[in-house]
Amino acid sequence: MPRVKLPAPPIPPGLKPQPPRPGTGNGRVGPLDHAAEAGITVVDWIDERTSLSGGLRWMLFRKVPKGTNWFYTLGSAAMFAFLSQAVTGVFLAMYYDPSPTRAYESIRYVTNEAFLGQFVRGMHKWGSSVMVILVFLHMGRTFFFGAYKYPRELNWVIGVVLLILTMTMSFTGYLLPFDQRSYWATIVGVNINGTGPLIGPYLSDFLRAGPEFGATTLSRFYAIHMMLVPGLLAALIGAHLYLVAKLGTTAPPWLKAEPDERLTESEV
Ligand code: HEM
Repeated sequence: MPRVKLPAPPIPPGLKPQPPRPGTGNGRVGPLDHAAEAGITVVDWIDERTSLSGGLRWMLFRKVPKGTNWFYTLGSAAMFAFLSQAVTGVFLAMYYDPSPTRAYESIRYVTNEAFLGQFVRGMHKWGSSVMVILVFLHMGRTFFFGAYKYPRELNWVIGVVLLILTMTMSFTGYLLPFDQRSYWATIVGVNINGTGPLIGPYLSDFLRAGPEFGATTLSRFYAIHMMLVPGLLAALIGAHLYLVAKLGTTAPPWLKAEPDERLTESEV
């Protein structure tokens, strides 16, 4: 069947160029009008040089299938949990010291003395569990709605890598407070990794930064936790969202597809 070119999505009224509005009462243009104009001018200035608005419209103005419901928000919720972890993590990194002799003290300082430190640390700590739960629920949604099937297999595979990376974030973050619990739990975790087939022993050597848990293990976990894995996560979430925008989301499985109105009865 020949491909039908759909009309471009409409520009929302708020973004259409408007004639200058007269200010209130005396017919003059007020400061609010200037502020609104300035915002539009800046956006126009950037757009004229980058043509970003085309990409944004492609990404944001999409047709969504009938029956889309609250379960479809789980992916975005997981993404916002990730963003919250990134923001709170940056503030924690301002105080954290990944040295075996000072890590515990730096966390104690954040918790008991730094301004809003306990709050930011709490957000990061509880946020990590929230993110893991949301990613699992989102995976369940895509599985039970059959969203892993053609043509979205690659997005499912990217999702599996995102799940592994999310778990890696939890595992590497757990050691950072460097108290008795995090130290011994990490030893157990690294040993479990070591029992994996083929790559297991290499993986545990890599995580420990050597055959024994030593002075460099903590900085290795910190580098993995705050640079390597977040970078990979951000890049793969970008690829994941690109595919969602390109392929659209799946309709709920209980909805029957409506026949294309251009088809004749015998073709349906
Ligand atoms: C950091 C973790 C993740 C983030 C931020 C994320 C984000 C998103 C978002 C925003 C959407 C579109 C809205 C929606 O359907 O909820 C989506 C769709 C999708 N995700 Fe994820 N996701 C993550 C992990 C996963 C995992 C673990 C899987 C499966 C193993 C997965 C598989 C999919 C699939 C197949 C779709 C397409 C859904 C459809 O077409 O209806 N994602 N993801």
